Amino acid sequence: MLSLNVVTLLYLVAAVCFIQALKGLSHPTTSRRGNLFGMVGMAIAIVTTAGLMHTLSLHMPQVNLASGLAWVLGALIVGGAIGTRMAQRVPMTQMPELVAFMHSMIGLAAVCIAVAVIAEPQAFGLTAAPGLPIPLGNRVELFIGTFVGAITFSGSVIAFGKLSGRFKLRVFQGAPVVFRGQHLLNAVLGTVMLAGGVLFALDGHWAPFIVMTLIAFALGVLLIIPIGGADMPVVVSMLNSYSGWAAAGIGFSLNNPMLIIAGSLVGSSGAILSYIMCKAMNRSFFNVILGGFGGEAAQGAAAQAERSVKSGSADDAAFLLGNADSVIIVPGYGLAVARAQHPLKELAAKLTEKGVTVRYAIHPVAGRMPGHMNVLLAEAEVPYDQVFEMDDINAEFGQTDVVLVLGANDVVNPAAHDPGSPIAGMPILEAYKARTVIVNKRSMAAGYAGLDNDLFYLDKTMMVFGDAKKVVEDMAKAL
Ligand code: TAP
Repeated sequence: MLSLNVVTLLYLVAAVCFIQALKGLSHPTTSRRGNLFGMVGMAIAIVTTAGLMHTLSLHMPQVNLASGLAWVLGALIVGGAIGTRMAQRVPMTQMPELVAFMHSMIGLAAVCIAVAVIAEPQAFGLTAAPGLPIPLGNRVELFIGTFVGAITFSGSVIAFGKLSGRFKLRVFQGAPVVFRGQHLLNAVLGTVMLAGGVLFALDGHWAPFIVMTLIAFALGVLLIIPIGGADMPVVVSMLNSYSGWAAAGIGFSLNNPMLIIAGSLVGSSGAILSYIMCKAMNRSFFNVILGGFGGEAAQGAAAQAERSVKSGSADDAAFLLGNADSVIIVPGYGLAVARAQHPLKELAAKLTEKGVTVRYAIHPVAGRMPGHMNVLLAEAEVPYDQVFEMDDINAEFGQTDVVLVLGANDVVNPAAHDPGSPIAGMPILEAYKARTVIVNKRSMAAGYAGLDNDLFYLDKTMMVFGDAKKVVEDMAKAL
């Protein structure tokens, strides 16, 4: 039998592992160790909770330990098998939708736990015997955990659909779904949902709980459909935060410190990540959440004036690169689309062989998910000491011979320095300061922000049009 003191101690060890996991995940070199800490922490938490179930069952004859543990084990096997299979099969570029799917499951789990607690509060130790009312404090916690969980579930399902782009339904399309009176409808539904929650907290009956939960499910859908597909990564990280708070809320109801700590860690790290992404895009959180932006990314391109650019071939680019002393490569979303990271590593290796110093510059929001470029470069086993974050490399562009911009656009757009621009104030990689700039993309189309990019029109810039993979392979061949 585990004493409650030992349970608390083990939960503390698991919590320290979770904190170490978050710390490790903050850098590619330590991320594997971080993942390991997370897995060990979760294993300790699960085994300790099973031990706790045993301890509680000794004091509560109404609890059937064997069937409880059988359910837990069954769920672990089924969930673990599905999770392992999905994680093995998912390509790196589909990681955000996998994360969205997982958040939806956390939200649903929070709702299911709340339903179970209300159905049989005595089994969770909230009441001494069946039929007794759940204490007021626990009812409030259940209400909060449930509505946050329900919104997280349905919101994450919409985010998953928008990110995957595989479903025909209008609500799963990348374009924002907006209609007249949307905000009013949301406000009315939100008010009715809160009223249902308050009624439930006051009388503990099923009816207001069910109404509140159903409305929360509907609100999850309504809140996410007006947000454009390209903003989904911010939404996913925001829903990640919600799922953590939902788990923490349920943790309070169950008096389970592990759930409270793990939920709070997820809740706060998700909120911080959303903040970092918004800051790096120079947009307010509300601007993202209120929706609309990013759905039609290319519309700004239509306004482009007829301006001429210099263009060259992959061979021309290879000549410039091969004759440089220093090269900085700026990868962007297009590199991920073309899956050009492996040929890129080969190109860099050839340049290094020729004595050229090659470094990679990573913008915090390059691509479409946090760490997108780091993940791609890590997949191609690019040495970490060649990869530099924006703040560490920006001062180097001025002394660099050639900058090779591959499928990046907004993150190198000097318009960010123009106070009148929609991306004014967004920190950028200062590629325009290099002696020569080579830009590879397929056309003159705009990037995510829908803006024209003055970098492409500079005298020292050469455009190399084509799919990034093909162009990089050709450059490597020419070297
Ligand atoms: P973008 O500004 O979106 O530009 C990507 C460029 O890649 C496009 O201009 C496109 O031009 C080109 N491209 C697409 N497919 C290509 C291919 N197969 N081969 C070669 N080029 C290709 O990307 P970025 O510079 O990485 O900036 C990221 C943007 O996404 C930022 O505005 C950021 O705020 C936003 N955002 C980021 C995140 C996160 S967390 N990373 C989340 C949400 C939004 P062509 O069509 O002409 O080829």
